[in-house]
Amino acid sequence: MFAKEVYIRRREVLLQKMREAGESGLILFIGNVEAPAQYKDNCYKWRQDSTWLYYFGLDEPRMAAVLSIDSGNQGIFADDVDIDDIIWMGPQESVASKAASVGIYQTGPYDNLAGWLEHNVKGRKVHVIPPSRYYNTLKLAELLPGVQPSESLIKAIISQRIVKEDIEIAAIDDACALGYEMHSVGRDSIKPGIIEQEIVGKMEGVTISKGWGVSFPTILTQHGETLHNHLHDKLVEPGKLMVIDAGAESNMHYASDFTRTYPTSGKFTTKQREVYQIVYECNELAFSLTKPGTTYREVHLAVARKMLEGLQGLGLVNGDLDEMVAAGIAGLFQPHGLGHNMGLDVHDVEDLGENLVGYDPDQQRAKQLGLGSLRMARRLVPGHVITDEPGIYFIPALIEKFKKEGLGGNFVNYAKLESYYDFGGIRLEDDVLVTPTGARRLGPKRLPIAPDDVEAAMAR
Ligand code: GLY
Ligand code: MN
Repeated sequence: MFAKEVYIRRREVLLQKMREAGESGLILFIGNVEAPAQYKDNCYKWRQDSTWLYYFGLDEPRMAAVLSIDSGNQGIFADDVDIDDIIWMGPQESVASKAASVGIYQTGPYDNLAGWLEHNVKGRKVHVIPPSRYYNTLKLAELLPGVQPSESLIKAIISQRIVKEDIEIAAIDDACALGYEMHSVGRDSIKPGIIEQEIVGKMEGVTISKGWGVSFPTILTQHGETLHNHLHDKLVEPGKLMVIDAGAESNMHYASDFTRTYPTSGKFTTKQREVYQIVYECNELAFSLTKPGTTYREVHLAVARKMLEGLQGLGLVNGDLDEMVAAGIAGLFQPHGLGHNMGLDVHDVEDLGENLVGYDPDQQRAKQLGLGSLRMARRLVPGHVITDEPGIYFIPALIEKFKKEGLGGNFVNYAKLESYYDFGGIRLEDDVLVTPTGARRLGPKRLPIAPDDVEAAMAR
């Protein structure tokens, strides 16, 4: 946990933002509860709600809190342990002491929350966020039937959480150090003849031995054209490309998220290297353009242009670059956005609404394939932590759809593309902090990414 003062300050800032938005009443936060996997006492791995962690730090189930916007009063509802709990879990700190450790001095039992709300709401507005878990949806419906998420609260939280404090940046650097180690182990384990799962196991072992675990289910595949391929059952074959998109979550619950693509034999074929070089240059271009004042939408579109330029060099598309960007031709090859926010969640704060998190009020989300999937389009400010993850994928079904429906106009060389149907995909992802003067890649070291450096690392 951070120091008590961090949580006190964060809640003060939130209350102030709500007052400035002209709001009054109460804010109710509900933390997560244990989620049974097969039966009540065999649960999924415990993970606290990220918004709760941000404002209250307490990493335990069955806690709720009420803040008064008007008076500033704050209280936590949670249960002290009884002898049954002590038998199974050992002695525990009291709720009063845990709450005091984050600057809250009024507490009550968890099940008193309903009665407390009944007696104290008195017609006042209760602001809540959309729950990230179904249990909390049910709990909210039980506590406050018909309550709707508060837009002012959502906006206030997003504005706070997507601009990272220095202590959070240090925590993300730590998560990235773990992600670096995880990926290095993965890269060094690639060997034709083993099952993909063996590599995944070694990588995830790093995250568990030094952190909380993975920040999302590991993507490791020789079918990188499937963007989120979570199957790891294939034999590693020579001559293939392996996409590894994986991240570690630190014990402080901050995420990292890196992607590298490796030639399974240790050396790229000429064809692989040509496409890899384009993705690599797109990743570098995005980083060079990332600075305060620029929108990430602009960076995404500059990358789309660069990608099409490279693909034109390979004879896969042909036409005026700006016209191709406008026609959305890049989406055929990269049907996802350039990046997303990252912090306590790997797609940070997206549970509060993807568009509210990733778009400024004057920005509209596009409908076009690729650009429409851009999760972070905002005008960049220092403190934004985002991913830079261009990719080129050859998805036979998508290419066939473009061809059949004429979606590529006259820009796409379908005949030549057929020789890429078994190519797979390439994605290269770094985590980036927007600084006052530009950007910095997060983590102590950058994973090898230039094609020669990748081959050299694999040779070692
Ligand atoms: N790295 C997984 C994702 O960004 O969705
Ligand atoms: Mn990502």
